[in-house]
Amino acid sequence: MKHLLSIEDLSYEEALSILDTAHEMARVSDGPVKKLPTLRGRTIVNLFLEDSTRTRISFEAAAKRLSADVINFAAKGSSVSKGESLKDTAQTLQAMGTDAVIIRHSASGSAHWLAHSPWMNGSVINAGDGTHEHPTQALLDAFTIRKHLCGGAGDLGGMNVGIVGDVLHSRVARSNVLLLSKLGANVVLIAPPTLLPVGVESWPATVSYDFNREIPKLDALMMLRVQQERMNDYFFPTSREYAQYFGLNRDRLTLLKQNSIIMHPGPMNRGLEITAECADSARSVIVEQVKNGVSVRMAVLYLLLAGSSEIASTVNAEVNA
Ligand code: NCD
Repeated sequence: MKHLLSIEDLSYEEALSILDTAHEMARVSDGPVKKLPTLRGRTIVNLFLEDSTRTRISFEAAAKRLSADVINFAAKGSSVSKGESLKDTAQTLQAMGTDAVIIRHSASGSAHWLAHSPWMNGSVINAGDGTHEHPTQALLDAFTIRKHLCGGAGDLGGMNVGIVGDVLHSRVARSNVLLLSKLGANVVLIAPPTLLPVGVESWPATVSYDFNREIPKLDALMMLRVQQERMNDYFFPTSREYAQYFGLNRDRLTLLKQNSIIMHPGPMNRGLEITAECADSARSVIVEQVKNGVSVRMAVLYLLLAGSSEIASTVNAEVNA
């Protein structure tokens, strides 16, 4: 594997191997020294041309824990805001001897474009391209579900996962549907018809418009952010009505099965898709998702750049040293 551009490109075995490697990486993060020498001397560029908090910091922490040199590059403050093209930016990064570029961009397909452009020799990791995909978010979500509900090993066979809300604009939903179904989970998309993409019938998921009816069946409930910045039209009458039909609130919390978990990729619109009470409840694993993101991204960087699956022995040597 040279690049991680979409979940579509990953085989079942590759997906599981990333989760297993992340499991080992979590042991490093939980240990006293939090750092492996594996990527010493490698240069990784965080090319974030769209806003991000969690994903950008998480990739930076992951790269640093593997001892790589990290260059953070944001649109604001760079020549991109002067209109410099992605091609010229890529050539500049290449000239600096970059081993990997982590790219977030508002255009769907931008990560593919960069990976296959003649100006880029290094690995490319998609950290969110438009409304297309966000593979590492799906991997950290699968990791979190597996840890809580599947004993931390194997696939997600038989798990029922509900993904609720603005599916139309969500690269997180798209990547999750592909990955969770690949790993054996049953996925149901719960949204108003206006927030479902054309062609959703062909996705490996079922669709429901009735949130209350689905909740009691779910093992994991993943709420999506209403992506106002991508909405150039009216998709629902009022915020109040949206919250009433598709928001997670105290009443709906009581419909959940006993061990099920509440997830959200962040950032949250508290009071719109999820109330503060639910976001901060004992069922919520939202903060833990962020923590798991670092382990999963360490795993991805490790597998792409160090290119070996002997992680267990490396980690053991470090943790036991
Ligand atoms: C998501 C994203 O940017 O796609 N956030 C994230 O990466 N944690 C989801 C969102 O913005 O709603």
